[in-house]
Amino acid sequence: ADTLREAAASQGRFIGTALNDALLGDPAYTAIAGGEFSSVTAENAMKWGSLEPNRGQYNWAGADRLVEFAAAHDQQVYGHTLVWHSQLPGWVENGGFAPAELRQIVDDHIATVAGRYAGSIDRWDVLNEVFNEDGTFRDSVFYRAFGDRYIADAFRAAHAADPEAKLFINDYNTDGINAKSDGMYRLVSSLLAEGVPVHGVGFQSHMILGQMPSSYRANLQRFADLGLEVAVTELDIRMNTPADPARLDRQADQYRQVVGDCLAVSRCSGVTVWGISDRDSWIPDVFPGEGAANLYDDAYRPKPAYWAVLDAFGGA
Ligand code: G3I
Repeated sequence: ADTLREAAASQGRFIGTALNDALLGDPAYTAIAGGEFSSVTAENAMKWGSLEPNRGQYNWAGADRLVEFAAAHDQQVYGHTLVWHSQLPGWVENGGFAPAELRQIVDDHIATVAGRYAGSIDRWDVLNEVFNEDGTFRDSVFYRAFGDRYIADAFRAAHAADPEAKLFINDYNTDGINAKSDGMYRLVSSLLAEGVPVHGVGFQSHMILGQMPSSYRANLQRFADLGLEVAVTELDIRMNTPADPARLDRQADQYRQVVGDCLAVSRCSGVTVWGISDRDSWIPDVFPGEGAANLYDDAYRPKPAYWAVLDAFGGA
C-alpha cells in the first residue's frame, strides 16, 4: 500500500483527517486530503456556531463543500458535532431560554442538521465534551436546563433524524483509564441499559510528546467490550517547537503506538488525525511554543510520524 488510506483499508480501518473547508482551494492541501485519507471530519464547519450564527439562518456552504469533497474522493464523513457547550452561537448560549423552549431549539437543530446530511454521514459526534476532569458532568447551558437527560434525548433525536449514522459521544483526556473516562464508561453503560441509540465512543487523543497513556489500549478495549465501536477521533501529538529530529522520531513512535493499539482492538474502526500539516493545526494558537503535532510539516512534506503510521497499518 502506498497511501495511508490503502494501508488502513487493508486492515479494515479508516484513516481520517480534520478538514478546514477554507483550505479546499489549495491544491497541495487537497491532494493530500483526498489521496491519503478515507474519512474526513469538519474541523469547524459543522459546529452549531458555524452553521447557525443567527437563529433560523443557516450557513451550509462550508459543510456542504466538505460533504461534496468526501463524495468526490470516496471518503466517509465523520460529523462533528451536534451538541457541544463550546462554539455555540451567542443566541443559544445567552438566550436565557426556559427549558421547554431550549428543548425545542436543540431538537430542531439536531433534526435540521442530521436530517440534511442523512445518508452522507457515517458517524456523528452527537455529544462532545460533556465531562469535567473528575468524571462529573460539565456545567453548560444544556446541563443547567435539563441535567444529564439532554444526553439521552440528543441521541434519540439524532437517531430519528438519521437512522443510518453511527452515533458517538466524544471527549478529550478520556484516552487512558482515569476518573474522566470512568465517568464516560458509567454514562454509556447506563445509556445502553436504557436502550438509548449510542453506537460508539470517540477518544480525541490530543496528546503530548512522551505522554502516551499506558492504559490506552485497555481503555479502548473496555468500551469495545460493551459492544460499542471505538474510534480515535482527533489525534495529534504536540511538542515544544521548533521540532528537532530526535523529537520527531519519538513522535513517530508514539503515533505508531496509537495506531497499534487501535489495531489491537477489533472494534476500533479507525484513527482521525486533527489536521493535515503542522501549519494548519490549532495547537500553536492555544499552546504558544508548542506544535509540530501532525503528520505533515509546514511545507506539506511527510514527517517521520507519517511513515510510522503507514508502517503501523502495514503499508510500504
Ligand atoms: O472563523 C473565524 C474568523 O472569522 C476570525 O477572524 C478568527 C479570529 O479569531 O477566528 C475564526 O474562528 C476560529 C475558528 O477556529 C476557525 O479558524 C476560532 O476563533 C477558533 O476558536 C476556532 O478554533 C477551533 C476550536 O476547535 C474551537 O474550539 C479549532 O480550529 C479546532 O481545531 C478546534 O477543534 C476542537 C474540536 O472541535 C473538539 N475537540 C478539541 C479540538 C481542539 O480544540
